[in-house]
Amino acid sequence: MKKRVFSGIQPSGNLHIGNYLGALKNWVASQQDADNVFCIVDLHAITVPQDPEILKQKIREVAGIYFAAGIDPKQSIVFVQSDVSAHAELAWILNCFTPMGWMGRMTQFKDKSGNQKESVSVGLFDYPALMAADILLYDTDEVPVGEDQKQHVEITRDIAQRFNSIYGETFKLPKPVIPKSGARIMDLIEPTKKMSKSDDREGRTLPLLASTDQLRSAIMGATTDSQKEIRFDASRPGIYNLLEIYEGVTRTSREEIESKFSGKGYGDFKKDLAEEVIAFLAPFQKRYQELIDNPSHLEDLLKEGKVRAEELANKKLAEVKSKVGLG
Ligand code: TYM
Repeated sequence: MKKRVFSGIQPSGNLHIGNYLGALKNWVASQQDADNVFCIVDLHAITVPQDPEILKQKIREVAGIYFAAGIDPKQSIVFVQSDVSAHAELAWILNCFTPMGWMGRMTQFKDKSGNQKESVSVGLFDYPALMAADILLYDTDEVPVGEDQKQHVEITRDIAQRFNSIYGETFKLPKPVIPKSGARIMDLIEPTKKMSKSDDREGRTLPLLASTDQLRSAIMGATTDSQKEIRFDASRPGIYNLLEIYEGVTRTSREEIESKFSGKGYGDFKKDLAEEVIAFLAPFQKRYQELIDNPSHLEDLLKEGKVRAEELANKKLAEVKSKVGLG
């Protein structure tokens, strides 16, 4: 039996190189060895306000990005979260087994709600219960995500354990799989802050669908430091971040990269990095364009994904409902 891998990305903002290196790249890398389920988590996206037209378009965009990045619909189930109602249903049930105190410790909620804790939606607070439902519906073994999602996978384990201890073995305990490099790509201007797809200010991120000019100018304008040496030194966040991106897109070892740029300046390194990122994204963007130009094919793939996901999810939901005494 192959292990089950589940992961997802929110269709909000512009997917960037951090989403690729932290998540997508690793989904593709383990695809052959696993039974995969990849979700476009639109119900998560509406925890903050969204324009309906843009949301619809972003769902297709993220689907196109999954396939363009190398997710193969023959090997992986790809579907839209709101197409499978079992996600919302199980989330409700899990809500009733999750202490407020556990949710209150989630650092992402604290960051996202900032000083507006009274006005943000209950959905934003409750978001990890929906994520737990996503993962637990599919008997997931592994959840490949970036560093920022680790705590949400951990609370999923806690919720599963709690449910199992009351009703007997029902849910598998999933584990987060975080890459050694690329798990937390930083903002190009403020490299002490995570690169965020909801930040649309110029030069902060490297969007996967950006033009070559946009990519080049963001990299050339990235914050570094006043030192010279090009080395993987985590205490120098700007250059370290750019080196991690270089490592991620070229698949070259750290030693090789350091020796290649030994004695060279930041300007030379940035120019090289920009060319590598552009060369890396060009074939990806071409595949993406082909997919997006054929919307009926994309719709068919998502419909097929929905049917396959629903079959698995409904089985698990029925088991849970029966254990709880519902219906
Ligand atoms: P989301 O949509 O914010 O991000 C998608 C994936 O990209 C990773 N990521 C990053 N990795 C490296 N550097 C960064 N700067 C960076 N920014 C984002 C994230 O860790 C994530 O893996 N709650 C999730 C979506 C979700 C999910 C799930 C994931 C919903 N249900 C079930 C796994 C399993 C989220 O908001 O990710």
